[in-house]
Amino acid sequence: MPRRFQPYTRLAEIWDEIGQDRFSARMVDYTFQILKRKNFQPRSALDLCCGTGTAAIRFARKGWEVYGLDGSADMLRLAAMKIRKERVKVNLIHQRLPEFEIRHTGGLGLKMFDLVTSYYDSLNYLLKEEELSACFRNLNRHLNPDGLFIFDMNTKEALKCLWGDKVYARSYDNVAWIWQSLFYERASQADLRAVCFVRKGKLWERFEEVHTEKAYSLSVLKRLLHSAGFRVEHLYDCFRFVKPKRGAYRIAVVARKVRNIA
Ligand SMILES: C[S@@+](CC[C@H](N)C(=O)[O-])C[C@H]1O[C@@H](n2cnc3c(N)ncnc32)[C@H](O)[C@@H]1O
Repeated sequence: MPRRFQPYTRLAEIWDEIGQDRFSARMVDYTFQILKRKNFQPRSALDLCCGTGTAAIRFARKGWEVYGLDGSADMLRLAAMKIRKERVKVNLIHQRLPEFEIRHTGGLGLKMFDLVTSYYDSLNYLLKEEELSACFRNLNRHLNPDGLFIFDMNTKEALKCLWGDKVYARSYDNVAWIWQSLFYERASQADLRAVCFVRKGKLWERFEEVHTEKAYSLSVLKRLLHSAGFRVEHLYDCFRFVKPKRGAYRIAVVARKVRNIA
């Protein structure tokens, strides 16, 4: 029986090696374009679900004060190594969404940010509407007035057509993977079973992780953001500056904090 692990435990060690870090690097460039268009110059940023720290490192290179939060100790271990190598300062926080709280050193008050990001469909991992809502509400407490929240999400179309009932496979010199997914229409969810092989000397080690994502409609997203004190300023077809067409696979959301919530 192959060993099955929690999501982002074993996958962490190969995440960058199989090129998955390229997505958030691209999202960072896209974010910089959005910020420029909005003439918004943050001085502090929090990357939610920062994974191996690719985005956080690039934010830190701008001279911003940067925090990265993730629920996986294994992803954060990789992030810490990269941060040391890059000689930048990023504060890593090991907490799980939706409940999270970042305090100033010494515990005095909540840490506030100008910009919060979350990339690579990380928020699709929140499988209940109440969890996504709680996440947005917690986030409100950590954003400065008029602060921006920029994130991308997979749509139902993506889970149905890109994930749903498909098999993908790749092999590299030291790593190979097979991803199989199943889509559940009524729940708007998909499971992705990642079977990975990592070369260990002359042998190959096999492990598995199962990842589940849920898609939310645009109207649900807007309602949850609005009730969490945000105004949705742009809903984009991700990586572009136009509205998502019906059937778009990935959306980018730019929301501004317009009020404090209780
Ligand atoms: C698809 S990866 C994206 C990582 C990174 N943002 C990137 O673009 O490379 C999803 C990340 O979300 C994190 N994650 C998933 N569910 C989480 C939760 N409930 N709380 C905190 N982190 C979570 C995982 O540990 C993982 O690092």
